[in-house]
Amino acid sequence: MAVDTFDTYLAEKTAYIEENLIPALEQEGVPQALYDSMKYSLMAGGKRLRPMLVLAVLEALDKPLERGVPFAVALEMIHTYSLIHDDLPAMDDDDLRRGKPTNHKVFGEATAILAGDALLTRAFSLIAESYRNRKDVSALTTVNLIAELGKRAGATGMVGGQMADIEGETKQLELKQLEFIHEHKTGDLLIAALRGGGYLAEATEKQMELLTRYGYCIGLAFQIQDDILNVEGDASQLGKAVGSDAERQKATYPGILGLAQSKERVAALITEAKAALSDAGIKHSALSPLADYVRNRTK
Ligand code: IPE
Ligand code: IPE
Ligand code: MG
Ligand code: MG
Repeated sequence: MAVDTFDTYLAEKTAYIEENLIPALEQEGVPQALYDSMKYSLMAGGKRLRPMLVLAVLEALDKPLERGVPFAVALEMIHTYSLIHDDLPAMDDDDLRRGKPTNHKVFGEATAILAGDALLTRAFSLIAESYRNRKDVSALTTVNLIAELGKRAGATGMVGGQMADIEGETKQLELKQLEFIHEHKTGDLLIAALRGGGYLAEATEKQMELLTRYGYCIGLAFQIQDDILNVEGDASQLGKAVGSDAERQKATYPGILGLAQSKERVAALITEAKAALSDAGIKHSALSPLADYVRNRTK
């Protein structure tokens, strides 16, 4: 896919995802302040990479994209909750996210915590409610989606990675320990996007395995790039602070390997991700340019 075509693709898919986010928030009986806080972070922008990956798998396997929407929206809700909590004073204590003041800066810490809790919970009820009565998604597929998301978002996944990340502050970590943190705090939600897309598209077992491999590679590359951008990125483009990892004495790839080797590692992972795609028989899909996008991103 040519670069300008891919840019159009990203813009179109982002708009499609965003038009489906607000309706998923609309529920009876939600306290106004909680709703405002949830909506504030969910609609603050962001690259929408995780939902994009869900749709790209469906597209690659010739299935209707619309089937992936509830799962894609649920993932973006979980991702947004993870960012709200990640920015709290007790965690990374950040003031800027997606180019705007962080949730707790606007709504206060208690509301920010609750908005995160509510987005996490809504993600699961949304999947159950949206797929319950559909003929093209079996009950087993829905259960598989819920199990996948629970595993990748919780203590064995993103939350576990966040715990290790916090415990690793101010410590000298080995590369293996840092890889564990990156794989879980960031990689797991990307893997969930790909595997969820795989379940919805009725991927073969082999394709599932290779999509997982692709997800592992781009997930790790994505977080290494995040570490690189925290050193040499532009805060106004990124929409979040730079230099904060060094300030908080976080273990990072550039910290352990240096910038040049970190960039080489990102490049090698992207090559490996693309090899997994061609082994899966997925050639001409957005998944390949999406891998390059992870590497070349500046925001
Ligand atoms: C930021 O994720 C947090 C990490 C896991 C590195 P993104 O870079 O995908 O954030 P948004 O959604 O575009 O704001
Ligand atoms: C965020 O990791 C990962 C999650 C929110 C799960 P970081 O703390 O390294 O990312 P940024 O730089 O705040 O986005
Ligand atoms: Mg963090
Ligand atoms: Mg952070």
